[in-house]
Amino acid sequence: MKTIGVIGAGSMGSGIAQIAATNECKVLLFDNNPKALLKALEKLEKILNRLVQKNKINQLQSEKIISRISTVENIVELSSCDLVIEAIIEDIDVKKNIFSELDVICPKSTILATNTSSLSVTSIASSCKFPERVIGIHFFNPAPIMPLVEIIPCIQGTDQTLQISKKLIDSWGKVAVIAKDTPGFIVNRIARPFYGEALRIYEEGIANFETIDYAMTEIGGFRMGPFTLMDFIGNDVNYAVTESVFKSFYFDPRYKPSFTQKRHAEAGWFGKKSNRGYYDYSSEELRVVSKDRAVLVSICNRILFMLINEAADALFLNIATKEDIDLAMTKGVNYPKGLLKWADEIGIEKCVNSLDLLYNEYKEDRYRCSPLLRRMVNSKSKFYS
Ligand code: NAI
Repeated sequence: MKTIGVIGAGSMGSGIAQIAATNECKVLLFDNNPKALLKALEKLEKILNRLVQKNKINQLQSEKIISRISTVENIVELSSCDLVIEAIIEDIDVKKNIFSELDVICPKSTILATNTSSLSVTSIASSCKFPERVIGIHFFNPAPIMPLVEIIPCIQGTDQTLQISKKLIDSWGKVAVIAKDTPGFIVNRIARPFYGEALRIYEEGIANFETIDYAMTEIGGFRMGPFTLMDFIGNDVNYAVTESVFKSFYFDPRYKPSFTQKRHAEAGWFGKKSNRGYYDYSSEELRVVSKDRAVLVSICNRILFMLINEAADALFLNIATKEDIDLAMTKGVNYPKGLLKWADEIGIEKCVNSLDLLYNEYKEDRYRCSPLLRRMVNSKSKFYS
């Protein structure tokens, strides 16, 4: 049986502990706040009881899962782990401190992974004497439910670290994709226009939140519209990610944050968790949606073409394979189709022409078309033949 150490018993750490224990691993859970450890165990028991009630697992299985998880009060107790996954606060200095401690505590054969969603894995690894065993293993929230896991080798990492990590995540029944260590990895990079372009359309006064959401769900087939999704994620969290991606890309205008979202975050209108975001969740007020099909189609297409452009550019820059890019967006954020497959269906030329129309109208770099799409039009090729 493999022993997995999990550091940080918050939303992500407790979910990762549940997955590992369900897959017959012994789990050692550590947090520097003892109350967080207790809370995580209580939450896990509740979740497992619910799974028993729903007949997803039986009582014996639930007891076995819980019995595989032990909490530890000192990080040195993680020395026997085959793999340690860190899921503490998103702060580069705090993470580097933990990794330099782990590097001394754990034998060289222990893989040290970070669940960071926005920091450089390479930078975290640089705090270790043996950085070749460091890797990013990025789960999505809620970890036990979302199938996708992004695996991010750091530039100092070995192929062995990557292969062992991927094999383990595959054996846990997750969909593992491999991403280059660049800001936002795959999902948090490619998904930016879903929010950013929706906000821009709103700011230009083309449509209200309700109509843009309706266009994306009714015409695009997305499970949630961008404003509903931002309210669900939290405008504070989503704005912080956008700002961090923008800075990390050396202020590329394609990732420019929006004042509308910033003001919502400043007002404390975070979304569902504060009962007010783009929508007011305390009132039953009727939402006014334009049903003008031409308007809905052009809103949906504008956001979709920007998403396709981002996905194509990620492929162009070798962030991941085309298959992994499509899997990441369908399994990590439930997109109805892989964006590159979608581009093939729409026609690459139509995507390029639509992006060029936007670029010619606004003359903003934000709308520049990926060279890959342009090359594909010239060679009359598709992503999937
Ligand atoms: P959280 O705030 O729910 O939990 C963090 C836990 O880490 C807390 O229990 C805290 O006591 C503990 N902690 C903080 N500093 C520590 C230290 N020095 N040593 C030991 N424990 C420490 O945070 P959450 O949401 O679980 O996020 C954890 C990590 O996962 C972050 O890096 C975040 O970016 C990443 N992540 C978060 C996702 C999300 O949707 N919440 C999705 C994917 C990744």
